[in-house]
Amino acid sequence: MIGMRLGIALCLVMAIAGCTPYSIFDPAGEQAQWLATLGWWLVGLVSFIILVMGGLLLWGALRRRGSLDTHLPVDVDGGKRWILIGGVAIPVIVLSGLFVVTLVTLRVLPGNPEAAEIDIHVTAHQWWWEADYLHESPSENFKTANEIHIPVGQPVRIKLTSADVIHSFWAPRLHGKLDAIPGHDNYIILEANEPGVYRGECAEYCGVQHTNMRFVVVAQPPEEYRAWVARQRQPARPPAEPLLAKGMEAFETYACAMCHSIRGTKARGEVAPDLTHFGSRLHIAGVMPNTRARLQAWIVNAQAHKPGVHMPTLDQFDGPTLNALAAYLESLK
Ligand code: CUA
Repeated sequence: MIGMRLGIALCLVMAIAGCTPYSIFDPAGEQAQWLATLGWWLVGLVSFIILVMGGLLLWGALRRRGSLDTHLPVDVDGGKRWILIGGVAIPVIVLSGLFVVTLVTLRVLPGNPEAAEIDIHVTAHQWWWEADYLHESPSENFKTANEIHIPVGQPVRIKLTSADVIHSFWAPRLHGKLDAIPGHDNYIILEANEPGVYRGECAEYCGVQHTNMRFVVVAQPPEEYRAWVARQRQPARPPAEPLLAKGMEAFETYACAMCHSIRGTKARGEVAPDLTHFGSRLHIAGVMPNTRARLQAWIVNAQAHKPGVHMPTLDQFDGPTLNALAAYLESLK
């Protein structure tokens, strides 16, 4: 029984450690490294305690077998000593050690805000993430949704808040969880040691689509990141191709522009994600890959893919208009 439990525990640890994109045991940033170290300490200590206790139980059970009828003398003083050692002294030592390791980890987790040169304001909404890239000149500011780009090896200061209810920002391979609270700002320093796409999600239950409130952190080499920023700063240009022009007109005249913005067009809605460079993003609403076919499916029936999402069902488009609309949005690189 004990062996089976240990086996299950070991399998779980292996699964958590290596086989998921959300593993805290596969850190890619300094803060995550500290958390992983703390995690391994906990796993190691708990495994050790389970082994010792399991061994003692087994030893006790086997030692008494066959001798139940004999009246062994009871060593009362020895029993008390063992209760003091096993029930008080060892737990105090173990818990004090864990307390110190936890305190040290909590101390280093906030990072050094002074070292960060890049500021991103992240606002949590039911059920998406808005990222505002702030620069000295407001004309250089831009927004993305559900996708945060950062340069590798450089600390980035994230100011976190919420537009509605309490959410929690969590990119497990880069940092611990941090609550996004309406009317209150929280800060973390995000830093990735190597390029990659790191998955993140909301870690505080916030409504029906809590599970699908996902985002990605895209860590790029610094020069690639600067090129991305330069592209994102640009407003969308009016398309020359008739198909795309038809799509842009549909976007501006139907309901889309009431909720979404596209800089450089008449679309100025502010309650839904800014779509200025939508075509460059990896996912649609955090739930599906960003392809034209998926986008069409999303536009006509978002509720089928993310039930409860604030995006309404838009079934008023005929086939050619829907195709033009999706083609236009995909062209916004
Ligand atoms: Cu947002 Cu859970």
